[in-house]
Amino acid sequence: MTEKIFPEKNLPEKIMQQVIRDQQNEIDAYTIYSRTARIIRNQHNADILRKIAQEELNHYQQLKRITGKALKPGIRKVFFFMLITRIFGLTFGLKLLEKGEEKAVQIDYKGLEKYIPGLSAIIEHGGGARSSIAGDD
Ligand SMILES: [Fe+2]
Repeated sequence: MTEKIFPEKNLPEKIMQQVIRDQQNEIDAYTIYSRTARIIRNQHNADILRKIAQEELNHYQQLKRITGKALKPGIRKVFFFMLITRIFGLTFGLKLLEKGEEKAVQIDYKGLEKYIPGLSAIIEHGGGARSSIAGDD
């Protein structure tokens, strides 16, 4: 059992549900990035994807310390993004995935800061490795 930094009783149920939802997004993103890294030919991009995947896994683990829950990747979402990437290309697939993450961050984390200061810094996205994806697969 993972040690929780915040006991569940201190967190309103609605907030806990939001954190769990975002923890789910993180494990989904980790799975999508690492699987995509395995199937693309461009090794430069594959390395970047592996790096991003590690960041997502780290976000997942940070949130797991709050929720105390182990989650499995949502297979339907993973297959959906893998398919989109195959049809429309890597750049398009990743943009779509990032857009979804940004939206989640904007909606949920503003309200959460009051309960868990520093949380938005833990799950910060964008910049860094993401901007150095070059061309398609
Ligand atoms: Fe993340």
